[in-house]
Amino acid sequence: MMNKYVISSSILSADFTRLGEQIAEAEAAGVDWLHVDVMDGHFVPNITMGPFVVEWCRKATKLPLDVHLMIENPERYIEPFAKAGASGLTVHVETCPDMHNTLKLIKSTGCWAGVVLNPGTPIVEIEPFLTEADLVLVMSVNPGYSGQSFMPESIARVTHVRKKLDALGSSAWLEVDGGINTETLPKMKEAGATAFVAATAIFKNPQGIEAGIRSLRSLL
Ligand code: DX5
Ligand code: ZN
Repeated sequence: MMNKYVISSSILSADFTRLGEQIAEAEAAGVDWLHVDVMDGHFVPNITMGPFVVEWCRKATKLPLDVHLMIENPERYIEPFAKAGASGLTVHVETCPDMHNTLKLIKSTGCWAGVVLNPGTPIVEIEPFLTEADLVLVMSVNPGYSGQSFMPESIARVTHVRKKLDALGSSAWLEVDGGINTETLPKMKEAGATAFVAATAIFKNPQGIEAGIRSLRSLL
């Protein structure tokens, strides 16, 4: 985690019949992290992957595994995901009634602790946790699916969170997720984001995974 900016490739748009190969391709192309989108069909309408997939990703790569938990009662699953090999666990403020404790629990496993908020959630909801978080994720789509359109109103939200983090002297990653591509990444960078999640722009890039990563990287 030494770079000033990181690209986190979300396997949600990968070809799961060739997941290992695709991860290896992303790693060889110099992506920084692998983003794993965990969805439970309750907090978000879609159902995706669990600790089992994280365990296989851990075997497939040395890249840090940036695990995004879009699930209800995430505290129940922190230990299983940490044991499976997650490097960081990011939990939604909408799902954590006792966020201080949840972040503490995540840190106790050795994972970095992230806090995330949906586009419709007021930023004030994450403010009490900014000093504790190792990563703050601002969603730029409503979570549930890859391939959705970027919400331009999220730019101002990133600017706002950047100011808050700077005022606290926090060195937390400021991550953005949803609709990140060569057009939107520069806007989010300008707003102060430091970690960029992309699924479609990498794994569904018509020129291939390597080209997708290279074109995003060239903007950082
Ligand atoms: C959305 C997920 C994202 C998603 C991003 O619910 O959290 O990580 O995979 O996909 P793109 O980059 O296609 O918007
Ligand atoms: Zn995500």
